[in-house]
Amino acid sequence: MAGVAVAVVTAAVVAGLLLAFVSFAPAADPTSATPDEKLQRCREERHRLDLMLLDVTRDSRCRLCPAGWRWWRRRCYFFSPGLQENRRWNESAEFCRRHDGRLAVIEDSAEMDFLQGVMSTFSRFPFLWVGLTDAQQEGRWLWGDGTDVQHYMPVTVDWDADHRDCADLRGGGSLFAADCEAYGPWVCKKES
Ligand SMILES: *[C@@H]1O[C@H](CO)[C@@H](O)[C@H](O)[C@H]1NC(C)=O
Repeated sequence: MAGVAVAVVTAAVVAGLLLAFVSFAPAADPTSATPDEKLQRCREERHRLDLMLLDVTRDSRCRLCPAGWRWWRRRCYFFSPGLQENRRWNESAEFCRRHDGRLAVIEDSAEMDFLQGVMSTFSRFPFLWVGLTDAQQEGRWLWGDGTDVQHYMPVTVDWDADHRDCADLRGGGSLFAADCEAYGPWVCKKES
C-alpha cells in the first residue's frame, strides 16, 4: 500500500521534472543565462516540485501517512494538540509506540524548522514532549534512539534539575527540562 503510494508520488515527481525540463529548454537561451541564474532557476523549480509533492501527498488517495499524521521528508509526524488531551511523558511515548513510532527525535535544523512551522499554526503555541530524557542518569540527555543529545546538532536543554528529566520543545527551537509527570501535548515520528 505505502509502496504503491511511493511509486505513484515518485512517478508524479519524475513526470513533473521531465515536463519542467522539456518546457524550460526552448524558452531559455542557454548562452545568455549565467550559472547563478541557472542555479536560481533550479532552486525555483525545486521549490515548485516540493510544493507539488506536498499537494500530492495531501490527497487521501495517495496518502503516505495514516490519517491525522503529516508527511515530511519520508517521515510521518503526529502532533497531539488536535486531540485536546494531555499526557505524561511516558504515556506520550507509549502512544507513539502503539502507533509504530516514537516521540520525535530531532535530527537537523531543517526538521526543527518544520516542527516549529507546524507548532506556529496552533492557536496557542504549545510545548511538545519530544524523545529526549536524562531519566537514566541525571544530566546525561539521550535521544530516544540512544544517541547523545549532541549527536545530531548542537542542542541545549535549559532548566535542567534533578526532578526535571524529560525535554519539551518550545518556540525558537528551545528545549526545556520538565517534570516527566507533567501533562502536555507531544509529537510522534515514524517512517512513512
Ligand atoms: C507512567 O508513569 C506513571 C507514574 O510515574 C505510572 O503510574 C504509569 O504506569 C506509567 N505509564 C506507562 C505507560 O509507562
